[in-house]
Amino acid sequence: LAHGLQRRVLQRAAAKGDVMALLATDPAFYDDPYPSYERLRADGPVVRNGFVAGTVDHAVANAILRSDDFGTGAGQGELPAPMRRLHGLVRDPDTLSPVDPPSMLAVDPPVHTRYRRLVARAFTARKVGRMADRVQDVASRLLDDLEREPTFDLVGRYAAQLPVAVIADILGVPDAERSQVLGWGNHAATTLDPGLSWAEYRRAATALREMHAWFGHHLERLRRNPGDDLLSQVLQDPEAAELTEEELHAIGLLVLGAGFETTVNLIGNAVVLLDAHPDQLARLQADPDAWADAVEEVLRYDAPVQLTMRAAVRDTEVAGHRISAGEAVLVYLGGANRDPAAFADPGTFDVRRSNAADHIGFSAGVHFCIGASLARLEATVALRTLYERYPDLRVVGRPERRTTRVLRGWEYLPVSTVARV
Ligand code: HEM
Repeated sequence: LAHGLQRRVLQRAAAKGDVMALLATDPAFYDDPYPSYERLRADGPVVRNGFVAGTVDHAVANAILRSDDFGTGAGQGELPAPMRRLHGLVRDPDTLSPVDPPSMLAVDPPVHTRYRRLVARAFTARKVGRMADRVQDVASRLLDDLEREPTFDLVGRYAAQLPVAVIADILGVPDAERSQVLGWGNHAATTLDPGLSWAEYRRAATALREMHAWFGHHLERLRRNPGDDLLSQVLQDPEAAELTEEELHAIGLLVLGAGFETTVNLIGNAVVLLDAHPDQLARLQADPDAWADAVEEVLRYDAPVQLTMRAAVRDTEVAGHRISAGEAVLVYLGGANRDPAAFADPGTFDVRRSNAADHIGFSAGVHFCIGASLARLEATVALRTLYERYPDLRVVGRPERRTTRVLRGWEYLPVSTVARV
């Protein structure tokens, strides 16, 4: 019921031309959201309409994400009305989604701090640096398997496989269970989006239910037989002993899902951008050390996570706009990354842009992405290895976009490794 209502509210607002509601519901708008972001920008740093407030302003977005005056809007007892309308998910422990408390993404300090500490220590830049050989190994092996195939789906066979292999390894998930996890993750990812159709909601709920059941078995297996993976370590940590089973599920499944549902988009978006900008690819081929900077520019130019949301915990002011306690603001990360006040000529894709890393593609503040170093490593290694092996790689056929709105990327991306004749 909540879903039906939410969808109707959005559809009514979209019919009146509400840009934010159109972005949430109309495929034509989320196929290319960037012109819509410019329409919002023209209306000022904080745009309010009948549906919800939103911002594409880099300074305002940063201020909101870093401010103690804002929380996730969830976990405060009663959800603020716009959040309820947006998420609409009925809370059910068997189908808890990444946006439901007690997911780390949906709780505020001090609870958030306690969960985050348990996980963040495994993903420091130093610890991630030690994973470089393993990531390289996975990338090379995936490409070895494609050696005899002059055309293949870059997303299905490579960009999606690399991150899931790495995060499965980190969380002690056996190889044989990886593709099942990948399938569940793809359905579960839709719960990040507002305005799901009933069919989408049912598919996501089923996937989440199966994923939770599987994760329960996985935890049991690691309790009986601990490995040297992150989850086994967490299970043995005295601090974690105080976590409920529901909290363990929320933390574990978020890290697992976030570990592969996002990096796939970064790699796919990069390949499409480089295909459209051969001059930029040529620069990288002449200077392979520049791949890491190019990854920052892809994160800025076409953010794999387009959107997040915060709600004011008390009456406050941002860029001269009063926001009252409980009011939610959509923070368009992808729009803020195109703010001309922060980036010169923001609509130009330039792998040598000096301040590309000022993007907020990994968010900012207390929820700044835990996996940022890992994602950067995976994308850098994946892209460098791909173009070293196949310097003539090009997109062919008809790529298909993912239909998700918060996550922006490709579902199907056919490529040819053979030079054009
Ligand atoms: C949080 C983006 C990869 C784990 C976030 C947030 C963003 C983000 C935007 C914060 C959302 C908010 O502020 O509401 C990305 C992108 C990735 C990526 C663009 C890849 C290109 C990863 C990976 C992991 C990961 C590989 C694996 C460890 C997490 C976790 C959080 C998070 C656990 C929650 C942090 C918290 O709430 O404190 N990510 N992420 N992410 N990410 Fe990532």
